[in-house]
Amino acid sequence: MSLRQRVGLKFKDEIEFLKGWKRDRAAVGAITPTSVATAARMADVIQPNSGLPVLELGPGTGVITKAILKRGVDPRDLISVEYSPEFCRHLRQEFPSVDVRCGDAFALDLTLGAQRDTTFDCVISAVPLLHLAPEKRLALVLDLLERVPVGRPVVQITYGLLSPVVALPAGYEIRHLAFSIRNIPPAQLWMYSKSAKREPLKQTR
Ligand SMILES: C[S@@+](CC[C@H](N)C(=O)[O-])C[C@H]1O[C@@H](n2cnc3c(N)ncnc32)[C@H](O)[C@@H]1O
Repeated sequence: MSLRQRVGLKFKDEIEFLKGWKRDRAAVGAITPTSVATAARMADVIQPNSGLPVLELGPGTGVITKAILKRGVDPRDLISVEYSPEFCRHLRQEFPSVDVRCGDAFALDLTLGAQRDTTFDCVISAVPLLHLAPEKRLALVLDLLERVPVGRPVVQITYGLLSPVVALPAGYEIRHLAFSIRNIPPAQLWMYSKSAKREPLKQTR
C-alpha cells in the first residue's frame, strides 16, 4: 500500500468531515471531528445497563458513535440522527447495526417515526447550537428532556464559553460536565436534566 493510501486510510474520517464542513459550514459547525478523549468523556454519562436505548444527535463521521459503542451500548440500542445524507451513508457503512436516521434533530417526532415515544437512557448531542436563536436551542433541550427519565442527562458539546442554553424553567438543571482542552477547538461539555417529574411541556414538541 502506498504512503498516500495509508495516509488516506488513517485520516479517512477527518477528510470526510472536512468535505462535510465545506458543503455546509453552519450545520457541521467545527472544522475537525471531536477528539477521542472528548467523545469518551461524553459517553461516560451513559448507563449501559439501564435497559434503555441511547439517542445521539449529529454523529457526523461517527467519533462519538464509536465512543458510545465502546462504553458498552449494543449497536441495536443506539439511534443516531444525522442531517447530512453524505454522513448518513458513511455512518451506515461504518456502523451497520446502528439505527442511523437521516433527519432533523429539531423535528424528532418525524425523524423517530414509530420510535417517537421511546424513553432513552440519555441524549448525546453534537448538533451545533450557537448559530441558532436562543428560543430554538431552549425548545430543543426541553424536547430532549421529555425523552429521558428524571435525573438522566442530555449532554451537549459546544465551543463557546457559556452553555448554549443559559437558563431552564424551574425543576430543570444545567451542569457543567467538562472543559476539554484535548479537542480542536477546545470544547465545553454541558449537561441538562429534569430534577422532578412534571407534565410534558406540550408546546415544545
Ligand atoms: C460539529 S459536527 C459533530 C460531528 C461529530 N459528532 C463529531 O463530534 O465529530 C455537527 C454534526 O451535526 C449535524 N447536524 C447539524 N444540524 C443537524 C440537525 N438539525 N439534525 C441532525 N444533525 C445535524 C451535522 O451534519 C454534523 O454532522
